[in-house]
Amino acid sequence: MKKNATLFFCQNCGYESAKWMGQCPGCREWNTFAEEPKAPSVKGRSARAAELREPVSLGEICSDDQERLKTGIAELDQVLGGGIVPGSLVLVGGDPGIGKSTLLLQVCRVLSERLDRILYISGEESLQQIRLRAARIGEFSPALKLLCETNLADIEAIVLKMKPQMIVIDSIQTMYQESISSAPGSVSQIREATGVLLRLAKQQNIAVFIVGHVTKDGTVAGPRVLEHMVDTVLYFEGDRHASYRILRGVKNRFGSTNEIGVFEMTDRGLCEVANPSEYMLSGKPEGASGSVVVCVMEGTRPMLLEVQALVCRTNFGLPRRTAAGMDYNRLNLLMAVLEKRLSLPLSGYDAYVNIAGGVRMSEPAMDLGLVLAIISSYRDIPVPDRTIVFGEVGLSGEVRAVSMAQQRVQEARKLGFTRVILPESCLGQIKDSSGIELAGVATVKDAMAALQRTKNQS
Ligand code: TYD
Ligand code: MG
Repeated sequence: MKKNATLFFCQNCGYESAKWMGQCPGCREWNTFAEEPKAPSVKGRSARAAELREPVSLGEICSDDQERLKTGIAELDQVLGGGIVPGSLVLVGGDPGIGKSTLLLQVCRVLSERLDRILYISGEESLQQIRLRAARIGEFSPALKLLCETNLADIEAIVLKMKPQMIVIDSIQTMYQESISSAPGSVSQIREATGVLLRLAKQQNIAVFIVGHVTKDGTVAGPRVLEHMVDTVLYFEGDRHASYRILRGVKNRFGSTNEIGVFEMTDRGLCEVANPSEYMLSGKPEGASGSVVVCVMEGTRPMLLEVQALVCRTNFGLPRRTAAGMDYNRLNLLMAVLEKRLSLPLSGYDAYVNIAGGVRMSEPAMDLGLVLAIISSYRDIPVPDRTIVFGEVGLSGEVRAVSMAQQRVQEARKLGFTRVILPESCLGQIKDSSGIELAGVATVKDAMAALQRTKNQS
């Protein structure tokens, strides 16, 4: 009997099955199975025997070929962990129109001044379209070659002939292999395509950047298997209506994933934002109640953000609460803490809370800032200018210590802030507090008092 030439693949997570199923046992999604031909099997064992390799000890591996390639875009280098590693496979994911193609074209532009051969392969745009985009970005060196191609076998042949030092594949969902009859973008195509690129990257020592589209629920479209195969996964995110973009490392075999890079989309492509705090705080109103500057850490990097709250009497029995840029349940929890510990009658008030600039943050160190923004708006007393706030708030109204207090204080000082409201237990961590007044608080009650004290002083 002829063996099944097709299999069923979950289009969401890549789960394989011999028969169709309504629900995927892997990711529990419904109706995601599609029939696809089986991928051609890899070379048999007998054919491979000739190329058996000797196992080696760590000391025998020479490591000097791991020289990193600096892109010259400092924010990107930081996220990559110090530059591009030759022979690595980097996946760049993000919503459509966020600027993935633009970023990679800019990387190619900077690198083409130092490398001899770079290949940018586009399966989505025509050469004319790329040229139009390139014209906005700037001058390009002839070392950058462009190619519109979606057939992987052809791409492989061209790469082997041209021997580029770096390749960009825009995007993996448009690439296809003729030996697989399913449509481009399907699980088996993406898996095969990535396999081919992985082999090229490792064998020829080429750095490969792959663009991957993101689905509605925020994962790279197609199988998660893509994320397992590559060395580095970067997500490009941001509000499409705001001009800043955040590049976040999600997985990195050559560095930490704590780093983020901040960019701004301008009419001449993406620009680095070297000082995100200053950028996020531009346009902060002076002397307005309900506006508080908080300090959150993104990996090892402190960032100052403005939290805004608007608290007003509710017209209905059920108060309305909205939280933009933070966890909705966290907001409700903090309001319950205020109601109970400070006896504020907040259940009769609507609350709208927002992080300015369209960022999303979930660090608990933001709690104290949120609490003060709500109190400030409720009492209609502005938080004094030049003050930043950080600290975690517990259920009994206590203000708990957070990590890296010294870095946060330093960031505040760098941007000209003169006063910090922080957990009392963090005071010991601060070695250098010159030029900045530290107000340690132990409970939310203290924090409220600290707020009023400064009001009376000013
Ligand atoms: P693009 O890089 O094509 O995004 P992706 O590849 O992630 O889908 O999207 C770029 C968007 O940015 C597009 O909507 C136009 C805009 N843009 C600028 O504002 N300035 C520029 O200089 C360029 C090149 C693009
Ligand atoms: Mg694109």
